[in-house]
Amino acid sequence: MADDIDLWEAHADWWQDGFTEGADPEYEEQILPIAANLLEGYDRVLDIGTGEGQVARLAVAGGARTVAGIDPTANQVVEATKRGGGAHFARARADALPFEDASFDAAIACLVFEHIEAVDDAIDEVARVLRPGGRFAFFLNHPLLQTPNSGWIDDYMLDPPEQYWRIGPYLIEDLSVEEVEKDVFIPFIHRPLSRYINAMSEAGLVLRRMMEPAPPPGFLARAVEYQAAASIPRLLVLVAEKEDHT
Ligand SMILES: C[S@@+](CC[C@H](N)C(=O)[O-])C[C@H]1O[C@@H](n2cnc3c(N)ncnc32)[C@H](O)[C@@H]1O
Repeated sequence: MADDIDLWEAHADWWQDGFTEGADPEYEEQILPIAANLLEGYDRVLDIGTGEGQVARLAVAGGARTVAGIDPTANQVVEATKRGGGAHFARARADALPFEDASFDAAIACLVFEHIEAVDDAIDEVARVLRPGGRFAFFLNHPLLQTPNSGWIDDYMLDPPEQYWRIGPYLIEDLSVEEVEKDVFIPFIHRPLSRYINAMSEAGLVLRRMMEPAPPPGFLARAVEYQAAASIPRLLVLVAEKEDHT
């Protein structure tokens, strides 16, 4: 496996400790409830980039009969298998899904595609494994507002001082390895939003809905110094449907 996956292997525990089993308010208060809602009523569900399997477990708990979770990182798949919950887990990359055409009613990718280099192939694979009319629930760090080098600026040159949200270079596709906390390095790929929408459109994934929720209370409570934090979304959710030509 390539270097980007080596970084995930090395830091899988950072993800598991900080973002699963109730540790992260954005997951608990926002991401998992939205995911549960979007997967409701779908029987065969694929969780792409499943990590330690929290979204796959959620799909099973919500009533899906067959749930598969794939991830190229062995340390994630081993933990997902250990945590159980009724889904089947396998080691695979999003751009080479080990499944037959049209074998799922819904696919979900939760904060995964910003780590995938082969984005077109991965989106083609989503379209391939979905049945006509199937749903793709696509969760991203908001690509418009969470660009590299985005963040709050406290501008004391102005009188009175102002706080504003700086957006980094938006149109430039950019692979960076970010130190997300001391000694933890994770690869991120920034792309303009149009890059994802157009790849989906070309693959026959028709956009049905777009959600830009405000950060949830548990996150805002950690950022009280930024009064406008509730007006800057961190999450983007695209809901698409596989074209049905029958
Ligand atoms: C931020 S974690 C999200 C995990 C899970 N979706 C969740 O929401 O809990 C990103 C995951 O993407 C996986 N990943 C990285 N490159 C991938 C690829 N090419 N195909 C599929 N998954 C990949 C990583 O191993 C990691 O488990």
